[in-house]
Amino acid sequence: MIETVVETQDRPDGIRVVTIDNPPVNAISAAVRTQLYDAMQAIAADGQVKGVVITGAGRSFIAGADIREFGHPPDPDARGLTETIHAVEDCGKPVVAAINGACAGGGLEIALGCHYRVAGPRALIGLPEVNLGTIPGATGTQRLPRLIGVKAALDMIVSGDLASSEKALSHCIVEAVEEDCVEAAAQLALQRPVKKLREDDSRIVDVSDDFFQTYKKGMTRRWRGFEARFRAVEAVSNILLSYEDAVAKEREIFVRQQDTAEARAMRHAFFSDREVTRHPSIPKDTPAKVIRKAGIVGCGTMGGGIAMNFANAGIPVTIMEMTEEALENGFRVIEKNYANTVAKGRISKEAMDQRMALLTGTTDYNDLADVDIVIEAVFENMDVKKKVFGILDKVCKDGTVLATNTSTLDIDEIADATSRPEAVVGTHFFSPANVMRLMENIRGAKTSDETVQTVMKLGPRIGKVAVLCGNCDGFVGNRMLYQYTRQAGFLIEEGVLPQDVDQVIFDFGLPMGPFAMGDLAGIDVGYLVRQERIKKYGRTNKREPSVADKVYHLGRYGQKVGKGWYDYEPGNRTPKPNEQITALIEQASVELGIKRRQISDDEILERCMYPLVNEGAKILAEGIAARSLDIDLVWIYGYGFPRYRGGPMHWADEIGPARILERLEYYAKERDPDWLEPAPLLREVVGRGITFKEWTDCKR
Ligand code: 3HC
Ligand code: NAI
Repeated sequence: MIETVVETQDRPDGIRVVTIDNPPVNAISAAVRTQLYDAMQAIAADGQVKGVVITGAGRSFIAGADIREFGHPPDPDARGLTETIHAVEDCGKPVVAAINGACAGGGLEIALGCHYRVAGPRALIGLPEVNLGTIPGATGTQRLPRLIGVKAALDMIVSGDLASSEKALSHCIVEAVEEDCVEAAAQLALQRPVKKLREDDSRIVDVSDDFFQTYKKGMTRRWRGFEARFRAVEAVSNILLSYEDAVAKEREIFVRQQDTAEARAMRHAFFSDREVTRHPSIPKDTPAKVIRKAGIVGCGTMGGGIAMNFANAGIPVTIMEMTEEALENGFRVIEKNYANTVAKGRISKEAMDQRMALLTGTTDYNDLADVDIVIEAVFENMDVKKKVFGILDKVCKDGTVLATNTSTLDIDEIADATSRPEAVVGTHFFSPANVMRLMENIRGAKTSDETVQTVMKLGPRIGKVAVLCGNCDGFVGNRMLYQYTRQAGFLIEEGVLPQDVDQVIFDFGLPMGPFAMGDLAGIDVGYLVRQERIKKYGRTNKREPSVADKVYHLGRYGQKVGKGWYDYEPGNRTPKPNEQITALIEQASVELGIKRRQISDDEILERCMYPLVNEGAKILAEGIAARSLDIDLVWIYGYGFPRYRGGPMHWADEIGPARILERLEYYAKERDPDWLEPAPLLREVVGRGITFKEWTDCKR
């Protein structure tokens, strides 16, 4: 039996209410399209119907095309979305959309096929197709500009953002915002005449090819690599053609774009964003502790940023420092950060004051007694951390979650400094902590499910994407990063310069390459981490890059001192290549007996990225990451791996693990036998002819 997903109900006043009811979000499946089309045909033929209201059941109006149908052949028996929208527009009765909730993509295209729109207070309205690597594909690129003007429509389509009801009202996308939007829509349908948007060209003014070219140029910095956004502008630019021709071209681009690596990556990222919240190791019914009040220990680079996340979410924070002076410095930085945000118009001065008022400083541990979670962000030194955790164990109430922001230290060792290791967990934020979205949560051997659940639920509440990982050196992100920076270090000894490597990685889509990143993070920080690791594990007889230590000994600590791998002018973050560094690198090659050679961009990319994927395979096999998607999100949100490539493991699946294995075997033989041995899991997936994702899926 075919399920009913479009229901109709006649009101005594002659209004027929058509309700889309396809949980959870009323996505436009083949059944929705076909049943809505049939409903509109029936309305056209029914003389009793005076007007129509289209609305959605539950919390959504219509969330757009059913993304799960993408990548599969369309159902030949189902109606298309465009013909359904034309059936709405051409039914001969005034049709009003009652936008009760999320109205996205094809959902807005249906609403734009209606003659008028009314929103409820909780509506979210937009065309987010570009976030899935495609473009609006059912007349949206031709209708939205006709409603709100070309520039405003481009801004909405290219950003992919969903607007609130109020914003939609101010853009004149909706006629009104009403609590009972169905009733308001019904009244409008009784009062207003049919008005077809596709026949209204009055807002198509002041546009030319030049206008669109200039618009595209303005997008390049922010949207480099996000091809769908550029294709969307192209589709809107067809507004200069007839509606029919433009819609046909829009469809062509939509269909072509859906089958691109970008679209597959963006869909993967979309579903991963949701899947990451359901970790297989946390039983579904595990309770999370309620976090009403937080504590932070250490108000340095990270502690201050972490505190801001809580304040932004309205959670009061007590920040503990060693001295009044350190506290004052930390608060000054926080205040400056907020003031910058106010200056950019992103928050009001009032909001800033409210957030600052949620922060309390102290130098007394006892003030942390009643907080629900403490996040420690003191110096990266095991003895210091153990001391801090020993005190926290004594002063904090029963039930407080004790979290550490360590980036390299063993969570279990820290937990053992307390009498409650089940309450100890890693919450690894990324710098700048108030900006970067990743919260890499680390489960120690004794961490309880409840503690883990608490930090997993806390992430989204403070604006972060929480990814759960196991405890190991470097956790997921930095452990993979070591392999990448190590090869970058070898490449400069073998024949290229930092700027060559950084350019290839930038062109691949990361915000910066490994050398520029080293300058940002601090050459001294990298040096100290290496020294600690040598102390812990001893020196191996494996080859290690040699130049970074020399840069450190020159006192070139990176951006903070205006010089590192590159030079920096005061107040300018643009890296300038430096001749002393070039000479240092060439000298290192001589000392190592390496004859410098030409290295292709392909080799640079493969030597940096394939070892990173290879380490990801080890991390997966060890269960440090439960799923390949967890690794992908760590890299997208923590390191700016291009979302349009879906994260390193998705990217590997897209290229094909066999290709990666073949090249790693080649480089292990020809260049670096020490570090490039393919991971057993890489060999396994290639042997079985599956992807990392498929391996993850069969494991479950
Ligand atoms: N198709 C299929 N499933 C969808 C979906 C869609 N369009 N939108 C959401 N879902 C699923 C989610 O995957 C999730 O499934 P899960 O529970 O199994 O993880 C479930 O619905 C609930 O989604 P959220 O957790 O995201 O629910 P929220 O209430 O937080 O958000 C939303 C609702 C704002 C609608 C958000 O889901 C969203 O942004 N969805 C995507 C909207 C979109 O991109 N639409 C455009 C589609 S492309 C298109 O329309 C092409 C057209 O131009 C031809
Ligand atoms: P930082 O040196 O900027 O700040 C540390 C702060 O802790 C200082 O203000 C210091 O006064 C304070 N402090 C030290 N001992 C203390 C104690 N016993 N009680 C109270 N306060 C104390 O260091 P940063 O960079 O903020 O790092 C903090 C932690 O975060 C480290 O574990 C580091 O590995 C980790 N981390 C750092 C990242 C970065 O990019 N800086 C990224 C991710 C994690």
